[in-house]
Amino acid sequence: MPVSRSCERRNVASRASSEPVESVVTGPLYTSHVRTAGAAANLGRAMDLQDWVSRAVTAVGRWEDTFGEFGRHPSLEVSEERFAAAFETFSDRLRANYPYFHPSYAGQMLKPPHPAAVAGYLAAMLINPNNHALDGGPATSRMEKETVARLAAMFGFGTHLGHLTTSGTIANLEALYVARELRPGLGVAYGAEAHYTHGRMCHVLGVPGTAVPADAAGRIDLDALDRLLAGGRIGTVVATAGTTGLGAIDPVHEVLAVARRHGVRVHVDAAYGGFFTLLAALGTPGEPGAADRASLDPGPWRAIPECDSVVVDPHKHGLQPYGCGAVLFRDPAVGRLYRHDSPYTYFTSGELHLGEISLECSRAGAAAAALWLTFELLPPTPDGLGRVLAAGRRAALDWSDLLAASGRLDLYQRPELDIVCYFPVAGPPSRPGKPGQPSLASIDEVCARMLADGMNDQDDPVFLSTLTVTADAFARRHPGVAADRPDTRILRSVLMKPESENHVGALHARVEELAGG
Ligand SMILES: Cc1ncc(COP(=O)(O)O)c(C=O)c1O
Repeated sequence: MPVSRSCERRNVASRASSEPVESVVTGPLYTSHVRTAGAAANLGRAMDLQDWVSRAVTAVGRWEDTFGEFGRHPSLEVSEERFAAAFETFSDRLRANYPYFHPSYAGQMLKPPHPAAVAGYLAAMLINPNNHALDGGPATSRMEKETVARLAAMFGFGTHLGHLTTSGTIANLEALYVARELRPGLGVAYGAEAHYTHGRMCHVLGVPGTAVPADAAGRIDLDALDRLLAGGRIGTVVATAGTTGLGAIDPVHEVLAVARRHGVRVHVDAAYGGFFTLLAALGTPGEPGAADRASLDPGPWRAIPECDSVVVDPHKHGLQPYGCGAVLFRDPAVGRLYRHDSPYTYFTSGELHLGEISLECSRAGAAAAALWLTFELLPPTPDGLGRVLAAGRRAALDWSDLLAASGRLDLYQRPELDIVCYFPVAGPPSRPGKPGQPSLASIDEVCARMLADGMNDQDDPVFLSTLTVTADAFARRHPGVAADRPDTRILRSVLMKPESENHVGALHARVEELAGG
C-alpha cells in the first residue's frame, strides 16, 4: 500500500479527469491521505483502507454463508464488462470534487470519514439494516443506543433520551417539535447568528421564531434576550455552542440563567461545536492547570447537561460520513410526545424501538454501525476524539496569530473554535502600485477574486469559502473601513482536519499571495 503521496497529490483537483481510472480506484482518492495519529510531520503510515474494506466484505460474506444457499435472480445480473464501463464513467465523474481530504482545502465543514467509519458503514450497509424498528436492525439499533449513551456521557447528561438522525437539521427539528409540544402557543428565540434551520423549522412547525441580536463577538446578546423573555411570549430559547459562520459560542450557562429566571426552556444547537466540549475538559485557557493551549472555557459546556436538549452532528466533527446527526433530551419522559400507531412494526420485542422516539421512520443502521466502530477506536473523550479537535483548534489559533500580524490580511475576529475568518486589508489598486483604500465594496471584490483565483490555480490550488457579514457587524470589529455597501463577503476557513496544524504556514503564505493579486 502507498505510504505517502503528499507531493504527487498536491494538484489532485486540477489533474482531475486526465488520469487512468485504476489510479482513482486504487490509490489517490482514499488510502494515502489517512495517516496514523502521532505520525511525524507530514509523513506517516497510511491505514490500509483497502484491506479493511475487504475484511468488511469478507466478514459479512461469512455471516451470509451461515444461511442456506440460493441463486441470485437473473434480473439483478449485470456483466462485469458493463459494470466496469459504468464504474469508469462514475469514478471519473467523482473527480469533479474539491479535495476535502487535503489541507489545501480550507473552506467549508467538509472532510472524509475515518477509515473505521468507512469499514463499519460498508459492512453494515451490505446487510442494510433499518434502525426504525428492532426487527429492521437489531444489532445496529443496540449500537445506536450505546453510541447515543456515549454522546450523553460526553455532555455529562445524568439521564437522557435520544437517537441518531440523518442530519443536524432533522435533529434540531425534533428538538423544536418537542419545544412546541411542551410549550404550546409560545415562540422560540435564537441568536441572530444561529443556523438558518431554526427560523425555517419554526415556520414548518407553525411556531413564532424570534432572532435575538448578536453582540460584538457574534454571540447571542444576553440583555436583548432578557428583555425578550420578559415579554412572556417565548417558551424555548436556542443557544448555539459554535455558530456556523464564525464558530462563536453562545454563553450557554448565562443563557440558561436568564431563561430559567423567566421559566423558559433551553435547547443547545451544538451540531457543529458539540464535540469541542472535550476541550473544555482540558482546563481553563491560560490558567496553569490547562493541559493544552487548545483548551476552552468550561462555563458554556458544563451548562449543557442542565439544558433541556442538545444536538450534535457526528458527521461534522465525529469523523462520520453524511447521514449522522443526534438529538438528546435530558428528560426521558419527552418520549411520550412521539407516541404514534404503527401496526406494521414494533412487533419483535417490548424493548424500545428507536422509531418510537423519532420523527423519521427509516434510518440507516449503517450510520450507527460506523459511529459505534469509530468510538471503539477514537472514543468521545479528551484523549480520543479530543486530540483530533485540539489539533484543528491549534491550527486556527496559529493562523489567527499570523493573520493578525500580516500586512496583507486581517483577522475578522479571534477564533473560538476552529473557524478562522479574515479579509484583505487593502482594496484593488486604484492605479498601478497604489493600493486602494479599504472599503466594504473593495473587500468584497478582492475576497471574491481570491476565492476564485485560489480554486482555479492549476499548479497550487487552495480552497476557501466566504461568509457574508453586515456592514454593522463589520464596523463593530473594524471601524474605519468605509461602509459603502450594506454587507460584504469575507473569507472563511474551517480547519477541521487535524493535518491542518502542520499546514498553517503554507496556507497563510498562499492566501497572502492571493491577496497580493
Ligand atoms: C450550528 C448548526 N446547526 C445546524 C446545522 C445543520 O446541520 P446539517 O447540515 O447536518 O443539517 C449546522 C450545519 O452546518 C450548524 O452548523
